[in-house]
Amino acid sequence: MGKILVTGATGNVGRHVVSQLAEAGLEVRALVRDPERARLPVETVRGDLTAAETLEPALRDVESVFLLWPGFTTGNAADMVTAIAKHARRVVFLSANVADEPETHYHEIERLIRHSGLGWTFLRPGGFAANTLGWAGQIRQGVVRWPFGQASRSLIHEKDIAAVAVHVLTSAGHNGAAYVLTGPEQLTQAEQVRLIGEVIRREVRWEEQPVEEARERLMAAWGDPAFVDGALTTWERFVTHPEQATDTVRRLLGRPALTFRQWARDHAADFS
Ligand SMILES: NC(=O)c1ccc[n+]([C@@H]2O[C@H](COP(=O)([O-])OP(=O)(O)OC[C@H]3O[C@@H](n4cnc5c(N)ncnc54)[C@H](OP(=O)(O)O)[C@@H]3O)[C@@H](O)[C@H]2O)c1
Repeated sequence: MGKILVTGATGNVGRHVVSQLAEAGLEVRALVRDPERARLPVETVRGDLTAAETLEPALRDVESVFLLWPGFTTGNAADMVTAIAKHARRVVFLSANVADEPETHYHEIERLIRHSGLGWTFLRPGGFAANTLGWAGQIRQGVVRWPFGQASRSLIHEKDIAAVAVHVLTSAGHNGAAYVLTGPEQLTQAEQVRLIGEVIRREVRWEEQPVEEARERLMAAWGDPAFVDGALTTWERFVTHPEQATDTVRRLLGRPALTFRQWARDHAADFS
């Protein structure tokens, strides 16, 4: 099996893709913006996905790419896909579960990849359990003030996304597949907070935040109005239409997806 390039290698998912591939004894190269800061246990090459001309050294002699796209807009992703297609044969793209949603950058990048000549597999996860790390400061204070406490999601452990990526990168039969990945169970946001509290043995209360206040806070944090409104609309919908759990992780890996409790145990130190 040829060399695999992992992008986003310092991130939630990518760091597990790197370690799981390395443990399996495969040839791995990580693309990072700052190799000194990254300190990864595999070959590391500098590159910026948003500047396609910087990607050549990382792509040399690569057969497959685990790809994510940073940011909320397509930008110059077309140049990046062209650069990858010049070198590699296949790409596993970390997309999102947006097949039935209005047009987003995920749709556009999936289209670019489909038309690139590369073999492809799309991973379309729902919400990451790691998103709840955004509450860590409030959890330490004992109260999470956030909108839509009854929004129910099937959050996925980043280790499971990585395990599926590794499976797809290292076995045949996934070309042209788009896998919707979730955790095994639905939990409301208020339940997620309570469960984190249980795991770290601290009482944590949910406090419902008015939507307008949430919009202001999220704008200050994220800066992109379309992304903020998209998130608020999605959470509102999950109150009446909970995010459905899929059995894709079990089907592909032959074991159940990790639970949110397991995720919270793995991250207890991040909340303490
Ligand atoms: N959170 C969710 O619920 C959710 C759901 C579906 C899909 N997604 C998608 O999942 C992806 C995020 O995955 P994650 O949580 O594993 O990542 P993450 O922890 O947010 O980390 C981002 C990674 O991207 C790298 N990166 C950022 N800008 C870059 C650039 N210009 N060039 C090269 N690398 C760059 C960062 O590397 P350095 O900073 O070290 O350079 C880091 O490794 C995003 O594409 C997101 O849209 C997220």
